[in-house]
Amino acid sequence: MHGDSRVVALVPAAGMGVRLGESTPKAFVPVGGSPMLTLALQGLIASGSVDEVVVMVPAELVDQTRALLPATDIPIHVVPGGAERTDSVRAGLDAAPDATLVLVHDAARALTPPALIARVVAQLHAGAQAVVPALPVTDTIKSVDATGAVTGTPDRSTLRAIQTPQGFDARLLRAAYATTIQATDDAGLVELLGATVHTVPGDALAFKITTPLDLVLANTLVAQGGISVPVQQRDQDREAVANT
Ligand code: C5P
Repeated sequence: MHGDSRVVALVPAAGMGVRLGESTPKAFVPVGGSPMLTLALQGLIASGSVDEVVVMVPAELVDQTRALLPATDIPIHVVPGGAERTDSVRAGLDAAPDATLVLVHDAARALTPPALIARVVAQLHAGAQAVVPALPVTDTIKSVDATGAVTGTPDRSTLRAIQTPQGFDARLLRAAYATTIQATDDAGLVELLGATVHTVPGDALAFKITTPLDLVLANTLVAQGGISVPVQQRDQDREAVANT
């Protein structure tokens, strides 16, 4: 607890993970021998910044999930998710009525460093209403039309790749989810309400395990004992490369 605030992490883990090509729902696919969901929960607990967790899983896996939860004093609730990620997050919000601050953190970002989670929560405690981890993009990004023809090249220096956990004042996120507007991430819904979304430095290790290649990378990192390059150092390295 921090003052009167109660930080509840919602962990959407109800996706089928079609792009990963595994028969198991994605959050239950092992990385280094542990299900992604278990690793993601361990990261949240290790951050020391979370008071309670709600995990949203496929309805038929609710009981099995309870057996995968890491031992902790923090209450962890398991509830059925929904057909779309937004339905799962909505179910999580309903199961967290006492939350004053909410994190939404994909189970698929299983290797997210606890320090990144703590950074997001610290910004919320400092008064930000919405906070997302952001990394500079390394590829040039183009927009295309329905035929695949390029329609524009946005200035790369203004673009960021956005990770989770995304952190919010609970009332703001509830208001965003009370609308029926669609967005590809939680912060997108909040932006549509006109709220300012702040960024904190993301971390390469918080990548979303989506494709078979991502799974190879995640397994390799765990087998090696992980990599830990301080964000500042990595950004300096990037700048040095960009300037050569
Ligand atoms: O499919 P994608 O990689 O965008 O999913 C991001 C996260 O949302 C995953 O952790 C997945 O389990 C979760 N999800 C969910 N309910 C759905 C779809 C995805 O909880 N219906």
